[in-house]
Amino acid sequence: MFRCLHRGSNLLTGVFNASLLRTSANTVSILETKTGRKSAINDNTRSISTTPLPEFDKDGLKSHDDLYRLSIEKPDYFWGTLARSRLQWYEDFSLTKDCDMKSGHIRWFLDGKINASVNCVDRHAESSPDKIAMIWEKDEPGTQEYVTYREFQKLLCKMSNVLEGHGVKQGDRVAIYMPKSPTAVAAMLACARIGAIHSVVFAGFSAEALAGRIMDAQVETVITADQGVRGGKIIDLKKVVDDAVQTCPCVKRVFVYQRTGNEVPMSNIDINLDKELESASDSHTPAVLDSEDLLFMLYTSGSTGKPKGIAHSQAGYLLYANMTMKHVFDYKEGETFGCVADIGWITGHSYVVYGPLSNGATTLLFESTPVYPDPGRYWEMVERLKLNHIYLAPTALRMLLKNGDEWVLKYDRSSLRKLGCVGEPLNNEAWDWYYNVVGEGRCDICDTWWQTETGGIAITPRPSSPDAEIRPAMPMRPFFGIEPVLLDPVTKQELTGGNVKGALCVRHPWPGMARTIYGDHDRFLKTYYADYPGFYFSGDGAYRTQDGYYQITGRMDDVLNVSGHRLGTAEIEDVIDDHEDVAESAVVGFPHEIKGEGIYAFVVLKDRVSKSEEELMSDLKHACKSRVSSFAQPDFILLTPGLPKTRSGKIMRRILRKIAANKPDELGDVSTLFDPSIVEILVDKHQQSL
Ligand code: WT7
Repeated sequence: MFRCLHRGSNLLTGVFNASLLRTSANTVSILETKTGRKSAINDNTRSISTTPLPEFDKDGLKSHDDLYRLSIEKPDYFWGTLARSRLQWYEDFSLTKDCDMKSGHIRWFLDGKINASVNCVDRHAESSPDKIAMIWEKDEPGTQEYVTYREFQKLLCKMSNVLEGHGVKQGDRVAIYMPKSPTAVAAMLACARIGAIHSVVFAGFSAEALAGRIMDAQVETVITADQGVRGGKIIDLKKVVDDAVQTCPCVKRVFVYQRTGNEVPMSNIDINLDKELESASDSHTPAVLDSEDLLFMLYTSGSTGKPKGIAHSQAGYLLYANMTMKHVFDYKEGETFGCVADIGWITGHSYVVYGPLSNGATTLLFESTPVYPDPGRYWEMVERLKLNHIYLAPTALRMLLKNGDEWVLKYDRSSLRKLGCVGEPLNNEAWDWYYNVVGEGRCDICDTWWQTETGGIAITPRPSSPDAEIRPAMPMRPFFGIEPVLLDPVTKQELTGGNVKGALCVRHPWPGMARTIYGDHDRFLKTYYADYPGFYFSGDGAYRTQDGYYQITGRMDDVLNVSGHRLGTAEIEDVIDDHEDVAESAVVGFPHEIKGEGIYAFVVLKDRVSKSEEELMSDLKHACKSRVSSFAQPDFILLTPGLPKTRSGKIMRRILRKIAANKPDELGDVSTLFDPSIVEILVDKHQQSL
């Protein structure tokens, strides 16, 4: 029987009491930037975002600095208190944490019993059944659908009954390959409700990429849609699943949701999801799960060809998504939160689903693209749906700003309060445009740094004290509980003070951090805990300013960031090397105006080839698209007689990166190469190809 420990307590209701939020006068000092636009550099405080944590009022802790200090010095008290007040438990935990950063052993809220779907849905369906839980912003503007918490609870219960009815049980892995829709969110939360582990695969990945993820987790159940609709185009999702499943003997059933209702071939393992939902009961008893039971896994790229199934557990992840969503964006009761990311990425998990819903917010499910039907889509949507927050990717901003201010200015954006972005560095030009044109100089810009592995936002300007400045183009300040550390990659010594650059690590554990790589805990330890013992290593480099603010300098490993999508260079090389005419290849990133980073492939052919150069180039691009995803297609392919290698045979990517970036005079020392003459050939060939 469901028992609620904290419902109705002052603590829980206090969280949603807007009168506790503080405001103060606006004081902004405006500086002219080189673009001639106004930019608040030193004192960007027009909208005050400090949201004190009422839980600690009794300790006399109200200022952000005091609260941050508490989170670092007394993490058990800090997170334990918040876990009890913000989440609803079946059974209280006995120990706040059991973590060892040296051995990568991470456990939070031990022996606690909880269900994430109850926290996201049932408690709000009970207290405010008619509140809008989600707005499904479908591809065609103006066709949005609203779903209340009560309606969504029914869908969730039906979905849970359907899954259980077909034998899906606690601990099973379920692959979700769906476009954004209430049904897709219900699929995720139904897994959470019955204790199955969802593995959402972005519905733009190829059949081969999907199959790899299905096989890695030995998935028996797949949930998909007949088709997707995006930017006015129909995408045959079921067909991709059919192709993938052919190579996956572990798959026993494929649920097919009708997004378009067009006829698609159904085989004997396919199940019409809509029909099943229709006849299923709309009440369901949730499973009582342990804090540390896995909630989901999500694949992300690392420096080898095989994507990693990053695994998150129930309570810690949920609390961290809940806290960051509420306090980074200063979410207030009644507001509409618009994170446009897909549910196939961690941003969609934390800031479309778990963060907003666990706060009882109204969340946006955006099915379309930033340029459909025209580059005004986001802002037209902001006006029509009265969005109070928008959270998007820098690559979209860079694309939109090229289309001119008129696409923004013709819509009313006065509802907007906070502007967030994530995925890659937000360059000065895009920051300036976001702040001045989109936000009319009155909304905080939250450049948020985090990763699939961190579960939620880790570094971002807000929350902070009301008068704290926001500087362009850097995420600046750590969230509660996060103490960033910079370490020297060679000496492994901690770099102290300001004006230093190093490997970005975190000193203390936090509830939202990943627990393992599904099925490969050794790889988990090796990737995140081996290089800098005692710290979590992010894989990114960062710079700390004189006054202690953080700026991300980029990946330190062989991982690319193309339009905010993480891609391992080895994943692309594997595909290219499979071509019968290719001897070997090396892929590097180069600065790209819109995508942030573009893909440059250096390819060495075999002595005898079967095809012309044009045919080969087109083959290789097509292979990357069809075997990984369209964003994995190289922007440049350079055919070369060889690659720069050391005497031990290691490819010197540093040199390839400089060539790709068109900086041949910055090649540095090439004398350690086995054959230094190859460098000149590469530089010449690159120049000719421009
Ligand atoms: C990598 C994580 C976290 C959701 C989206 C991506 C890069 C992320 C920023 C930022 C500069 C950023 C890092 C990080 N990144 N946010 N604000 N500034 N770089 O999640 O796919 O796990 O990728 O994205 O390189 O390691 P992800």
